[in-house]
Amino acid sequence: MLTQENRNIMHYLMHKIPIGILGASGYAGRDLCALVLRHPRFELAFATANGRRGETVELPGGAAVTFVAPDDVPLSSAALVFSALPHGTSAEWVQRVRDAGARAVDLSADLRIGNTDADIVYGLTEARRDEIRGADLVANPGCYPTSILMGLLPLLEQGLVAPGTTINVSAASGVTGAGMTPRADLLYGEITENFRAYGIGNNHRHLSEMRAFVAEEGVNADLIFTPHLLPTARGILATMTVPITAPIADPLALWQQRFHNEPFIEIVRTPPETRHVAHRNVVRITAHVLEHLRQPTLLVLSAIDNLMKGAAGQAVQNANLMLGLDETLGLPA
Ligand SMILES: NC(=O)c1ccc[n+]([C@@H]2O[C@H](COP(=O)([O-])OP(=O)(O)OC[C@H]3O[C@@H](n4cnc5c(N)ncnc54)[C@H](OP(=O)(O)O)[C@@H]3O)[C@@H](O)[C@H]2O)c1
Repeated sequence: MLTQENRNIMHYLMHKIPIGILGASGYAGRDLCALVLRHPRFELAFATANGRRGETVELPGGAAVTFVAPDDVPLSSAALVFSALPHGTSAEWVQRVRDAGARAVDLSADLRIGNTDADIVYGLTEARRDEIRGADLVANPGCYPTSILMGLLPLLEQGLVAPGTTINVSAASGVTGAGMTPRADLLYGEITENFRAYGIGNNHRHLSEMRAFVAEEGVNADLIFTPHLLPTARGILATMTVPITAPIADPLALWQQRFHNEPFIEIVRTPPETRHVAHRNVVRITAHVLEHLRQPTLLVLSAIDNLMKGAAGQAVQNANLMLGLDETLGLPA
């Protein structure tokens, strides 16, 4: 006798998989719409907006999407729903999605480790792939944490961070990282030809998930995270200094070994640049020995597109795994 799960899998093999997007009119939601529409196995079941309900927009590639109100969509018409709603609003909608019997990928911070006591799979794909495969609910990581934790991953996993020390992260993001809600400090005149730090004081909301992940890896180290605003639309560059347990002659080999065969991780010798990762679902990483220091220390640089690997792209990568599909389907490498 076939289980409901097996019946669903057989159905998906014969038909396209209906996908819903909550918060589709936002920056992450728009990229999700474009990815779902070009995905060979997905079809768009619904795309919601709040104030912009009823609007039709043209996406890159020419397809048009009309946004509907979230209260007007039958959530059960989708097999999987992406929630690209703001923090605070998202968790409640994800619960409604789950109650309707659909799988969910939540792009907000609401359900990420460090922000909830619930045991929800953290969707840092290359680190948690086995848990993501077949999961019903995945909390997609934040954009900065994706760039930072992926850059640090080999050192965290192999216990190479010197115990009791501090990992120092200075990272910069393009303005789409702040979402579409209009703000005076994000006006063109305020950001263009300018570069500044924000979230000073080591209390940015992304720190809780990064601290929780570092602790999950069994690493005893502090994190200092200072974000900066880039005068560009998209892209994140994270610059990290990591005190290590002992000198490493060829640090890049660590990243090459950990990520070999990973389709979306690029290990490079030259410093990664945001333009090399724009509109791509990749993390580009390099690592170097820092000289003239008493404590052996590595410099790690990591670049992503905050809306792709930092949001919509990683969410689709996770959805592919949740639905038993090839992880790379529909994603720009
Ligand atoms: N931007 C990034 O780089 C990035 C990266 C990773 C994760 N995320 C997370 O992804 C989520 C979306 O981010 P975003 O930057 O795309 O935000 P955004 O541009 O501000 O878009 C928010 C979306 O949610 C809708 N919305 C707002 N309030 C709502 C409500 N009360 N009920 C129903 N819908 C509502 C908006 O509709 P209207 O347009 O009609 O107002 C819009 O579709 C956030 O949780 C964010 O933290 C963002």
